[in-house]
Amino acid sequence: MTAYQLGPLLYEGKAKRVFQTDQPDLLAVEFKDEATAFNALKKAELAEKGTLNCRISALLFEHLQHSGVPTHYLGVQGRHWMLVRPVRVIPLEVVIRNVAAGSLCKQMPIEPGTPLDPPLLDLYYKDDAYADPFLSEARLERLALVNSEQRLELEALARQVNTVLLELFARIGLQLVDFKLELGFTADGQLVVADEISPDTCRLWDLDVDDDKDRILDKDRFRQDLGGVIEAYGEVLKRVQGVIQGPSMYG
Ligand code: TMP
Ligand code: ASP
Repeated sequence: MTAYQLGPLLYEGKAKRVFQTDQPDLLAVEFKDEATAFNALKKAELAEKGTLNCRISALLFEHLQHSGVPTHYLGVQGRHWMLVRPVRVIPLEVVIRNVAAGSLCKQMPIEPGTPLDPPLLDLYYKDDAYADPFLSEARLERLALVNSEQRLELEALARQVNTVLLELFARIGLQLVDFKLELGFTADGQLVVADEISPDTCRLWDLDVDDDKDRILDKDRFRQDLGGVIEAYGEVLKRVQGVIQGPSMYG
C-alpha cells in the first residue's frame, strides 16, 4: 500500500468530496450517499449509494483505461474512496445520447426510446448557479473554455468512451441510453476523463425488460420516484462485476 495522508477538503459537490493528500500528484475522492436531482431541488440520503457508485465508476474507469481511454483514475480504497490524478476540469458537461430520453424529449418533438444514429453530442455549461444551461455554438465560442483543437479532441474522446461503454453494457444486457462526462487536463496537458461514470450520470435500461419504468436501472428511478434505486444500482454493479475483474485497491 502506498501510504498517503489525507489533506484538506478541496471541493465539495453534490455527490462527492475531493480532498488533497500529502502527495501533490494525488487526490482522494469520497463518494457520498446523498442523491440530488433537478439541480438539488430534490434530495435524499440513500444508504450504500456512495459505495455502489465508487465501485461501478472504478470498474468502468479501469475498463476504459484498458481500452486506451485516458482517465484520472488511480485506484480505490475502502468502500467509498477513489484515488485520482489532479485534473483541471473543463466546466462543460459533455452528454452523449444514443437513444432519446430525458431533457431531449422535453425540449423537442422526439419520442422517448427513439434511436439516435449517429449519437447526439450536447454540451452544457457546468455551473449550478446557472443550472447547467445548454450551450449554443455561439455561446460556447463566447465562453472560450476550450480552443477549436481542444473542442475536437474532447468530442472525439467522448465518442470513444461511448463506443467502449456501449459495447460493454450491451454484453451485460444493458442499453446505454445516454451519459454525461466531465473532462479535464492533467498537469502535463493530457486530456482525460474525470469525475465519475455511474448510474447517477448514465441512463441504463435493462434490455430484457419491456416496461418503460421497470427497465430503468439508473438515477431516473430517483428522479421519477420509482423506488428501488439502490437495488437498481446494485444490479448494475453485479452485472459489471461479471465481466470486469477488480477494482484495484490503490497502492
Ligand atoms: P438529461 O436528459 O437530463 O439532459 O441528461 C442526460 C444525461 O446526463 C443523463 O444520463 C443524466 C446525465 N446528467 C448528469 O449526469 N448530471 C446532470 O446534472 C444532468 C442534468 C444529467
Ligand atoms: N445532478 C443534478 C442534480 O443534482 C441533476 C440531475 O442529475 O438530475 O441536481
